[in-house]
Amino acid sequence: MSVVGGGAPEPLGVVTPGAAGDPADLVDPADEAGPSAGAVLVDAPVLSAGPDGACTRLVVHAPAAAAAARPGQFAACSTGDSGMLLRRSFSIAAADPAAGTLDLVVAVAGAGTARVAALREGDRLSVVAPLGRPYALPPAGEGVVLVGGGYGAAPLAWVGRLLRRRGSRVDLVVGAATRERLLGDTTPAADDGVLDAPVDAVHVTTDDGSAGTRGRVTDVLGPLLAAGGARHVLACGPMAMLRAVHVVAAAAGASTQLATEESMACGIGVCMTCVLPVVGDDGRTRMVRACTDGPVFPGERLRWDAIGAPAPQRPAGVGARVPDDAVGAPAPVAAVGGAR
Ligand SMILES: Cc1cc2nc3c(=O)[nH]c(=O)nc-3n(C[C@H](O)[C@H](O)[C@H](O)COP(=O)(O)OP(=O)(O)OC[C@H]3O[C@@H](n4cnc5c(N)ncnc54)[C@H](O)[C@@H]3O)c2cc1C
Ligand code: FES
Repeated sequence: MSVVGGGAPEPLGVVTPGAAGDPADLVDPADEAGPSAGAVLVDAPVLSAGPDGACTRLVVHAPAAAAAARPGQFAACSTGDSGMLLRRSFSIAAADPAAGTLDLVVAVAGAGTARVAALREGDRLSVVAPLGRPYALPPAGEGVVLVGGGYGAAPLAWVGRLLRRRGSRVDLVVGAATRERLLGDTTPAADDGVLDAPVDAVHVTTDDGSAGTRGRVTDVLGPLLAAGGARHVLACGPMAMLRAVHVVAAAAGASTQLATEESMACGIGVCMTCVLPVVGDDGRTRMVRACTDGPVFPGERLRWDAIGAPAPQRPAGVGARVPDDAVGAPAPVAAVGGAR
């Protein structure tokens, strides 16, 4: 095992400390491990592997990473194929410091995730974790709505349990395209009579109506916030869902913390593959690294006008473009040549 990054994550200079992932906000009174420590590289034995909805849930033995991990952080995993140099990123779905385990939920998207999802008990997985800045837990006792889309719901039971132990009422909204795409049997709720349940109530949506309410997570989120109580929304899922969650929450006067999923290469802040336009405390937009300054950002700080737009550097797809008013943005052509 070797240490990849020492100490707690650096505060994000351009975003209000505490708004996203200030380590001081993350200390659960019931958690003696304290603030998150640095990431470690570990060749982790797979203790179990099995289906979780349409995904695969892996439980790996990585004690130092499990002790340091906080909800919202992620793990960068080798595929084990020397032809695939880049690690694949997965949210840490749960960490159990006592057992020394990390849970990862893997959806097959391509060759790399197919290899990771094919691991079985007794195999080994090279893991760098925990990476990135976690969710900042809202003030103790205040109501929170958690929103997850597809495998994005994976870490929310973990954060829900931490919040409930701090006295918060926690509602979980989980959505997927179909019943089959929902994770496992969702999450036990306190109103089902489950002791030490991770959440107070679960609200399920599917696009086709095969489970729960037919529609999108935002169809449920809006009325939940309007009913009062919660002023904090923590979400994880596809970027389009995060954008819609932010719009609905902002209209209801609720703050959002969004675990973004931007394409990553190095995962440790070196390559600048993962940059997103984020507004800082000084009101200026900078391109910041989702892997080290995120992946959790306050929704109101993300420049949605430049996210999901065709990016010149990624002609084949969509990502984030550099807004013209961002610090360091290329000068307009007329200005370079001098206005005539
Ligand atoms: C912070 C974060 C958390 C994530 N959490 C999960 C999770 O909990 N469960 C899960 O199943 N998936 C998660 N993903 C997405 C997962 O990392 C990608 O599906 C995976 O990298 C795709 O690799 P591939 O080889 O199967 O696909 P390919 O499309 O063949 O990948 C080709 C290259 O593109 C990169 N890439 C492709 N799609 C993504 C993507 N969505 N995000 C980042 N890099 C991508 C790959 O790393 C690889 O370098 C997360 C991504 C990020 C950034
Ligand atoms: S993935 Fe390399 S800097 Fe973020």
